Amino acid sequence: MKLLILYFSSTGITKKIAKVIGDAFTKTGCQVTMSDITSFADRQRIFDLKPYHAVVFGTPINSWRAPRAVREWIRTLNGQGKKCSTFFTYGGFAVHPTHYSTKQLLENQNFIVVSSSEFLGFHTFNLGGWKAMEGRPDESDFKVATEYAQITYKRFIGEDNTILAKTNYTEEQLDSMESSGFNMLTQLPTRGGESCGMCLVCEESCPSGAMNAESGEVDREKCIACLDCVANCPENVLKIDYISNSWSFRAEMEKITGESMKGQKNKIYL
Ligand SMILES: Cc1cc2nc3c(=O)[nH]c(=O)nc-3n(C[C@H](O)[C@H](O)[C@H](O)COP(=O)(O)O)c2cc1C
Repeated sequence: MKLLILYFSSTGITKKIAKVIGDAFTKTGCQVTMSDITSFADRQRIFDLKPYHAVVFGTPINSWRAPRAVREWIRTLNGQGKKCSTFFTYGGFAVHPTHYSTKQLLENQNFIVVSSSEFLGFHTFNLGGWKAMEGRPDESDFKVATEYAQITYKRFIGEDNTILAKTNYTEEQLDSMESSGFNMLTQLPTRGGESCGMCLVCEESCPSGAMNAESGEVDREKCIACLDCVANCPENVLKIDYISNSWSFRAEMEKITGESMKGQKNKIYL
């Protein structure tokens, strides 16, 4: 079976899980092609799905959904009735609408979704002082990622599709959640006037075309607050403000403590 694994990963967490999933599918005998769809340019490539029997999509959870840049890109695809599966990484907070809303998007593009899964990963906002899921993913997460690939392979060659719990949230409610997530960063990534070697990595790797390397500033309208530029700057000159206050606020709002976070588990949805 020829399998295409498409993954979006701003700070490298989803990429780690994608690698494990890719290796596990290879062990089942699949011929696996891995493709990074993180940067704006990556997603402008034309993906010919014809040679593939099935597709796997992997993204982080951003404010209860797949990142906006990915959702917009999915709307341009033609699934040709192919089977697919989704996996997500997240920082230990809420996930619920993500699986269902991404399934809906993919079905609208003529894909058949056979399974989904979620894995714990270092929260992106830890780069600004949060303390969620540090050290994840680890071996325990990789083990479940391997199981997910083995089970999904059986789904790809079998008849069953996934049934996911519906969400009652409207797209408008989720959009407003997303905006508050973006606004959590009161100061978007900036060099704050510091000079840099102009390697252009920040601009080239930006998923939403928001970063201007020359000025070192981002366009607030386009930015999805994914911190790809901060995580990938080789000179470490891009900074965000210290947002640890919003960590306590968010933890209180979602009634999350250090202990309850430790109880969070990876999940496979069939
Ligand atoms: C804008 C934004 C919103 C996020 N929203 C959520 C969320 O709703 N729930 C959660 O548990 N984690 C959330 N996260 C954390 C990421 O899902 C998590 O850190 C992910 O593993 C990062 O993967 P990546 O490095 O592949 O991009 C969010 C991160 C960002 C940047």
